[in-house]
Amino acid sequence: MDKKTNKRYYNSEIFFERACKVIPGGVQTLAKGLSQSPLGVSPFYADRAKGAKIWDIDGNVYVDFVSALMAIILGYSDPDVNAAISSQLNSGTIFSLNHQLEVELSEKICSFIPSAEKIRFGKNGSDSTTAAVRLARGITGREQILVCGYHSWHDWYMSSASDSFGVPSSLSQLTHAFAFNDEQGYLDLFEQKKKDLAAVIIDPVQIVGPKAGFLELIRETTKENNTLLIFDETITAFRYALGSVQGFLGVHADLVVLGKGLSNGMPLSALLGPAKYMDHMEKMFYSFTYGGETLSMAGALATLTKIENEPVLSTIEKTGSYLLKNLKALILEYEMQDHFELVGYPVRTHFKIKEHGKLSISEKKRYFSQIMFSNGIINNTIHTINYSHTTEHVDQLLHAYKMFFVGLQRNYKV
Ligand SMILES: Cc1ncc(COP(=O)(O)O)c(C=O)c1O
Repeated sequence: MDKKTNKRYYNSEIFFERACKVIPGGVQTLAKGLSQSPLGVSPFYADRAKGAKIWDIDGNVYVDFVSALMAIILGYSDPDVNAAISSQLNSGTIFSLNHQLEVELSEKICSFIPSAEKIRFGKNGSDSTTAAVRLARGITGREQILVCGYHSWHDWYMSSASDSFGVPSSLSQLTHAFAFNDEQGYLDLFEQKKKDLAAVIIDPVQIVGPKAGFLELIRETTKENNTLLIFDETITAFRYALGSVQGFLGVHADLVVLGKGLSNGMPLSALLGPAKYMDHMEKMFYSFTYGGETLSMAGALATLTKIENEPVLSTIEKTGSYLLKNLKALILEYEMQDHFELVGYPVRTHFKIKEHGKLSISEKKRYFSQIMFSNGIINNTIHTINYSHTTEHVDQLLHAYKMFFVGLQRNYKV
């Protein structure tokens, strides 16, 4: 690795150097590595976080718009969630028996999502999407799967991706990807695979929403073909709407996966659906030691209670709308619309870096990261608004964008 280059991130760089000796690639999660955080201009290690803020191990403070890759919905270290977890911690984290929290949390989630009659939990989104696909294969007796979006690090999904080191190549005959909002692409694949098609799994809002008729087409064709439709709501559930986005989008899936947003940062996901499908799980092997771990369940119950009782979603929507409106205006004010575009719903917007001019996308991205971090902002170009963000935090973000645009014009003649 290069020599340490920046005093501001001195301790981060020392630790990252140590990490690379004992951890392949230095990180546990791809998006926390060098692909998002260029060496020399980035912090790598958090010391602590509270509300919307993160302190790094060099003592720098940031307003965080990544929200722990969407795992945080209320804010870091939320007092109500913390109290629930602490209280449960004193009674035990896991037992040789089941715990009543599993029942209470299942009942609470079912009360939010009308199509949910039964639930099984997982520890992360990958657990629950994998369970959904296995369940669909078991129920239909078919093997083909169509996917749209990222769904899991597991073999069944990664066989359809380019990044498939170590994944048996034979599996690529079973999982096939189509692009979001590409009706013809979907129909072509559907026609080819429909005889043996167990499920279509889709992330229903991929920053931008579905085009009119796209999800309806998938719903209609899967229903006619007795193929199960799975909404992978690892990202969308409890963020875009109270519970699932099915009501919000007007299309109903057969099975739904919940993940980030469910438990404000504790490792928990869920697969749910009507009893007529979920009861088949009694025949399917889906069992793991930490399945009923109680701190995540206590955290989830406290998170959902807060979402239910406080204006969490409306506040997120308001703060996100403020960002959306003002950042769009700033892009126009600095005449940056050929280089950048802001897309998405207020709750999650993407500052898209476009191919234009003499700087490449990766050169613009590197400069972007440098300016964001040095202005006290954590921003991977996707702004995930949580309940702790205020308009003052957004103003700080907008100031960093101004510095970015001014810097591009001054230093790079963009
Ligand atoms: C839509 C979607 N599904 C599934 C996953 C996998 O979730 P996890 O990383 O918790 O396994 C992700 C992760 O980002 C995701 O965005």
